Amino acid sequence: MSHTRIIDLPEAVGRRVTVRGWSTGTRSSGKIAFLQLRDGSGFVQGVVSKADVDDETFDRARALAQESAVEIEGEVRADPRAPSGVELAVGSVTLMGPSVDYPITPKEHGVDFLMERRHLFLRHKGPWAIMRVRDEMVRGIHDFFAGRGFVRFDAPFFMPTAVEGTTNLFEIALFEDEKAYLSQSGQLYAEAGAMAMGAVYTFGPTFRAEKSKTRRHLLEFWMCEPEVAFLEHDGNVALQVELVSYLAGRVLEERRAELEMLGRDPAALAGAAAGDYPRLTYDRALELLAEDGEQLAWGDDFGAPHETLLGNRFDRPVVVERYPSAIKAFYMQPVEGDPTRALCNDMIAPEGYGEIIGGSQRIHDLTLLEARIAEHALPREAFEWYVDLRRYGSVPHAGFGLGFERTLAWFTGAHHLREVIPFPRMLTRMYP
Ligand code: 4AD
Ligand code: MG
Repeated sequence: MSHTRIIDLPEAVGRRVTVRGWSTGTRSSGKIAFLQLRDGSGFVQGVVSKADVDDETFDRARALAQESAVEIEGEVRADPRAPSGVELAVGSVTLMGPSVDYPITPKEHGVDFLMERRHLFLRHKGPWAIMRVRDEMVRGIHDFFAGRGFVRFDAPFFMPTAVEGTTNLFEIALFEDEKAYLSQSGQLYAEAGAMAMGAVYTFGPTFRAEKSKTRRHLLEFWMCEPEVAFLEHDGNVALQVELVSYLAGRVLEERRAELEMLGRDPAALAGAAAGDYPRLTYDRALELLAEDGEQLAWGDDFGAPHETLLGNRFDRPVVVERYPSAIKAFYMQPVEGDPTRALCNDMIAPEGYGEIIGGSQRIHDLTLLEARIAEHALPREAFEWYVDLRRYGSVPHAGFGLGFERTLAWFTGAHHLREVIPFPRMLTRMYP
């Protein structure tokens, strides 16, 4: 007999079905037992009436330990009080896999306790709902770019060079005297891709040796990096706004129930989904920070508290552009007539989630790029292929990197990035 997924039960009201899943808890009186069931697709309550089943079934149901795997046969009944609108009137219970002393009980557990048992905690409602939003966002990214004619383009993870400076670079020993770095960004390769395919995007894990313990940093996180030939700064900003508002709208439409399970008010994302994000220059951002009592000198970079202050001013992300070239990467195109500023932008999310995007127009002039590589004392041989892109039909081009977990944490209202990736990698955690 085939089984029915819990998510499909509302369409099966009045029918007898078999559900395969796990018991997350039981409660019973003398005559009736309630089984909380989950099967990965959803959650439902099973009701076992002593009057309807034999004593053995009733006792087996009552005694089910938390996380026992079970096959339940029963009738689907409408129940307006249930979140899904249905419950299961249980007829039989078969134990498929016993569970003994499951460690995560309904009482409160500390973060470390749960992170140490992440392989089990993923079964619980909060992480379950977040992983479903994560999955929806991944598909959202692919649909967004496929719908606009972009080609998915995979950058390597072993790199001969740094992309975003050397302070947080992971060096690895490949063979005896050969070393490599783990990719901090696929951008340089995406630039080659853009010249080959027109418009590309990468989407994959990215590695940064972040020694600070903050709620916004992981050692391994996912980044989506579009790169487009003939695209300039303003078009690049427009593409970012289009992507983020699309993703917010998609999550609101397809994963509203999960947001509600997480206690995340969907109204918090309404501005993000509407688009039309405010745009500030770096210079203007300094003035706004000064109004908030944060005096920065021209040329200072923003820290997390500054991003939070800027983000809190708006009900949707804010685009901050034209940062001083000196605090940005070597490959950024200078503002015309003002080489002290770069044609770049960050996108800062509201509610303290900080920078979710960094992007820029890239230098397309051969001489200028060569000069920048020299100024930054970068190993010239390793960048020869990248310089080549400026030798053969170089054109203006631009792109950006969306921090996937930062965006997902903001959408779901998660406190820390470790909550939105299945198995977080941090300075303080490599297990499980
Ligand atoms: O601003 P970043 O460093 O930009 C780049 O890497 C460019 N090469 C992207 C491009 O133009 N193609 O990183 C992009 C985003 C940040 O805005 C942030 O959201 C996220 O990546 N990010 C992190 N997310 C989690 N943990 C970390 N340690 C992160 N570091 C950056
Ligand atoms: Mg950045």
